[in-house]
Amino acid sequence: MAKPTAAAAIHAGGHERWGSKLGVILAVAGSAVGLGNFLRFPVQAAQNGGGAFMIPYFLALIFLGIPLAVVEWTIGRHGGMHGHNTAAGAFSAMWPWRGAKYLGLLGVFGPWVIFLYYTYIESWTLAFSYFSLAGLLGQAREQAAMTGFLQAFQGLSPNAIFPHIGTAYFFFLLTFAVNLLVVAGGIQKGIEFVSKVFLPLLFLFAFVLAVRVFWIGAPDPARPDWHVVNGLGYLWNPNLSVLGSSRVWLAAAGQVLFTLSVGIGAIVTYASYLRRDDDVALSSLTAVGTNEFAEVILGGCLVIPAAFAFFGPEQLAAIAKGGAFNLGFVTMPLVLGQLSWGQLFGCLWFLLLFLAGITSSISLAQPVIAFFQNVYGWRRARAVAVFGAVSFVLSQPAILWLGRGALDEMDFWGGTVCLVVFGLLEVLLFAWVFGMERGWREIHHSSDIRLPGFFRWVIAYATPAYLLFVLGFWLYDNAKTTISMAGVDAANRPYVIGVRWMLIGLLLVMALTMR
Ligand code: TRP
Repeated sequence: MAKPTAAAAIHAGGHERWGSKLGVILAVAGSAVGLGNFLRFPVQAAQNGGGAFMIPYFLALIFLGIPLAVVEWTIGRHGGMHGHNTAAGAFSAMWPWRGAKYLGLLGVFGPWVIFLYYTYIESWTLAFSYFSLAGLLGQAREQAAMTGFLQAFQGLSPNAIFPHIGTAYFFFLLTFAVNLLVVAGGIQKGIEFVSKVFLPLLFLFAFVLAVRVFWIGAPDPARPDWHVVNGLGYLWNPNLSVLGSSRVWLAAAGQVLFTLSVGIGAIVTYASYLRRDDDVALSSLTAVGTNEFAEVILGGCLVIPAAFAFFGPEQLAAIAKGGAFNLGFVTMPLVLGQLSWGQLFGCLWFLLLFLAGITSSISLAQPVIAFFQNVYGWRRARAVAVFGAVSFVLSQPAILWLGRGALDEMDFWGGTVCLVVFGLLEVLLFAWVFGMERGWREIHHSSDIRLPGFFRWVIAYATPAYLLFVLGFWLYDNAKTTISMAGVDAANRPYVIGVRWMLIGLLLVMALTMR
């Protein structure tokens, strides 16, 4: 990729900048704070040793999450200096080798793949906040009825309320349009503005809900031990015996990467809109800290204690086995529906998820928009229009083949494999190609703090080793069964194969059209 001239960079989006330090921190924190904080984290923790899970979790934060966040901010700002707003461009700015930009392409492809299904899930939260307010959710009184409601809405098992997938489609289009509108507004007037309004609002909603959940106490006088405080104990009492299991360590590493939105290229793009003399050291740590507060403190105070108080430990364990969505879309409405003002709290819960979702999905869209601007030289309006049209078509499998495993397949490649592979590439590139000496200086260029020298060693050795271990373990443990679809129903295999060809096609088109 040739360095664009100043004029070309202005044409192609390279001139855009954040309006304030607070703005960029909130935008990156907004990307990190998502459905993962309020649904995925509590379920992972409860299932992997409770309080003991926090040992591998915090180790992964120190050796994986924080270094990758710092590296991504630094790579992004450096790329932006050369007029590049994507990981593909940023890689080529750090490494003269011709193939560098193709490795960086993963940092555009990955976010796009996640965007294709993430917006659909995000649209369920908008739909359910409306259903709560309209009193539709209150009609279901137990798990089976509520599960039926969700599945009918998703078009999996039509019923009288949802004879077809039309309602879900309507909310998807609405959510999709909101996303496009925000990125069409540009960095300052779109993404930064929305992050500055939505993130504080989201914290307020989570706080109100947490207070309401603690108010529940023990709702059933016959079972005084089903108390929210014991629910906290259910989540946090440590079971140290799980630490011998590699599964727990992998789960912790995966959760840390996922929740911080690192290892995917989204932050590289956001950081490319910094100015040369803007800080990255303190800003990246602030964004990490904000996300961790939302995850460990707020995320731990909502679904698990609430579900514990109403369903008790045995049922809660069974529900959690069914996955994070069960807790969020089935159990939470049931619990909140039993409170006075339940419709309002239900609405608040789903709005919280929606706000968390939208500030994440716009950060998945922007790398692709920037790719179209930088590489094809398109204006923003055209980039957004083409992105919208293509994404709409490519998101159909996630919607229409939901019951066929299409969404899981996309999540696997985009949300798991790309995360680890791209994370490994960027940290190796930074420490060993760009060079740790230069890299360390680049991190501290105009920085507001100095990182402990310890992190120099972490970035060069510990983070790559940790990621290699995660990747190696995965390859050894289940790559073969996953790739050969051994766990997929024979009837669903053609659909999964279809999704694979779609993803390969997308990656090829992007690679072949890249200059
Ligand atoms: N961090 C988001 C969450 O917790 C999800 C996510 C993972 C993400 N990778 C991302 C969001 C990359 C934006 C960009 O829900």
